[in-house]
Amino acid sequence: MSDQSWILSIAVLGGTGKEGKGLAYRWAKAGYRILIGSRVPEKAEAAAAELLKLIGEKAEIVGMSNLEAARQAEIVVLTVPYIAHRDTLEMVKVAVAGKIVVDVTVPLVPPKVTKVQMPPAGSAAQEAHEILGENVQVTSAFQNISHERLLRDEEVGCDVLVTGTSKEARAETLKLVAAAGLTGWDAGPIENSMVVEGMTSVLIGINKQYGSTNAGIRIAGVI
Ligand SMILES: NC(=O)c1ccc[n+]([C@@H]2O[C@H](COP(=O)([O-])OP(=O)(O)OC[C@H]3O[C@@H](n4cnc5c(N)ncnc54)[C@H](OP(=O)(O)O)[C@@H]3O)[C@@H](O)[C@H]2O)c1
Repeated sequence: MSDQSWILSIAVLGGTGKEGKGLAYRWAKAGYRILIGSRVPEKAEAAAAELLKLIGEKAEIVGMSNLEAARQAEIVVLTVPYIAHRDTLEMVKVAVAGKIVVDVTVPLVPPKVTKVQMPPAGSAAQEAHEILGENVQVTSAFQNISHERLLRDEEVGCDVLVTGTSKEARAETLKLVAAAGLTGWDAGPIENSMVVEGMTSVLIGINKQYGSTNAGIRIAGVI
């Protein structure tokens, strides 16, 4: 179990979806209190019940609206499609003041999801920081981790690059990476998120070309 003395609860906005549910599963198993957020509270409650059944042991997972989850949590993780990014952030802006927001969003532009297409802010994470303002620390992480293996108790085998608006926020996010059973790296300032988010399109392209579903990255050469 990770060192979680500083944190009690994690909100996963859009936690009813593929990536959010997988991360919620891993953090719940690590002992965090998980608040699944959704546009429809009943959907979040159903996702929470599903995860509790899957874990089959003592875990704290509850479902509620995205706004209520953001209000109650110490740290807020955003796992919604890019089309919902701005609206979701604007809706929770007041509730996340003074907190860390971990943005998992990749600014994919269907149908060309294998082509890197960054928004005017530079990346989804920079856009999140613009929307939320200076009193919110924004980090970005997990964009290169496919949901495929998160809900299973097996080694993911891929690393997580964490960028963010402060070294402290990146360090706290790296604790969540470790709690999810993954290897994380401090990848520097939030401006670097465009590289990490862009890498996801490269990985989706590799999956398509080579018939895989879990292409990821690993940092080599660091002793
Ligand atoms: N899937 C992956 O393997 C993966 C890997 C790395 C990064 N990501 C990134 O993580 C984010 C979530 O991916 P995902 O695959 O988990 O997405 P998803 O399953 O399609 O959607 C996640 C949740 O977002 C909410 N949502 C969907 N469409 C919405 C809309 N138009 N407006 C508002 N809310 C909406 C839904 O929650 P409610 O209906 O309950 O509100 C949904 O359950 C994306 O930005 C994706 O690029 C995904």
